[in-house]
Amino acid sequence: MGKVIRKAIFPVGGMGTRFLPATKAIPKEMLPIVDKPLIQYAVEEAQAAGIENFIFVTGRGKHAIEDHFDYSFELDSMLEERGRSDMLETIRSWMPKPGQISYIRQMQPLGLGHAVWCARDLIGDEPFAVLLADDLVQSRTPCLKQMVDVQADVGGSVVGVMDVPREHTSRYGILDIEKDADDLVSIRGLVEKPRPEDAPSTLSIIGRYILQPEVFEYLDRQEKGAGGEIQLTDAMAATLGKGPFHGLRFEGRRFDCGDKAGFLDASIAFALARDDLAAATREILKSYAGA
Ligand code: G1P
Repeated sequence: MGKVIRKAIFPVGGMGTRFLPATKAIPKEMLPIVDKPLIQYAVEEAQAAGIENFIFVTGRGKHAIEDHFDYSFELDSMLEERGRSDMLETIRSWMPKPGQISYIRQMQPLGLGHAVWCARDLIGDEPFAVLLADDLVQSRTPCLKQMVDVQADVGGSVVGVMDVPREHTSRYGILDIEKDADDLVSIRGLVEKPRPEDAPSTLSIIGRYILQPEVFEYLDRQEKGAGGEIQLTDAMAATLGKGPFHGLRFEGRRFDCGDKAGFLDASIAFALARDDLAAATREILKSYAGA
């Protein structure tokens, strides 16, 4: 049902103030979980979901992201000379092909809705995905792939959702649930960062979206919402009723890597999932038990 999802937006314009001083000269999206930058996890997840066009909405001081998704002539030729084909694979295998990546500057930090709106001409009139690299999901099937598969069945828009403690609702976009059928939830309303006492549910949106181009009609108005920012959640809410809109309780564990404790948690979980690091990580954890 509907068009194939070919394009994805990666909003990477944020200042990363929560990770200063690490992010003074390095984009927060380049911080590694084990040995891979957050943004590469997001791009690989999109590739696994069939995405062919990768649109980065970027800002000042984010050149390291562009360099990361480009050939490094010196490094490539040095590894070739030394016959390190294994390492060449590590730096090349995941790279989108020339012409598949676009960079567009957000120019002003006016909110997530504004960042997505900046990519409107590159998206055109087709459904698209949005991935926030701060939200890292460890799962059997990559999270966006789960969503693309569901969207192919139900059509319309699909957002990745998870239940959170009520005291955390003010950190997220929250669903007003129409019908809750296990994994798939149909949505009556969406509220950005409501106070716990005002939240219509505790089901929150994580940074994974499949959206229809109609959201741009609302974003064109540049209306400010919660926190004085142009909110993607408000734009999505404005499209409710114009087509199917679902939340998917994805299989997997989501880490908030925009938060220091979440970042550490992700580092441990991803190290434990690695054949080359699991034993050493377990030893380290054992040595801290009771600390
Ligand atoms: C953004 C969205 C929010 C969503 C969250 C997921 O908020 O505005 O609706 O729940 O991402 O991480 P931010 O974390 O940028 O404040």
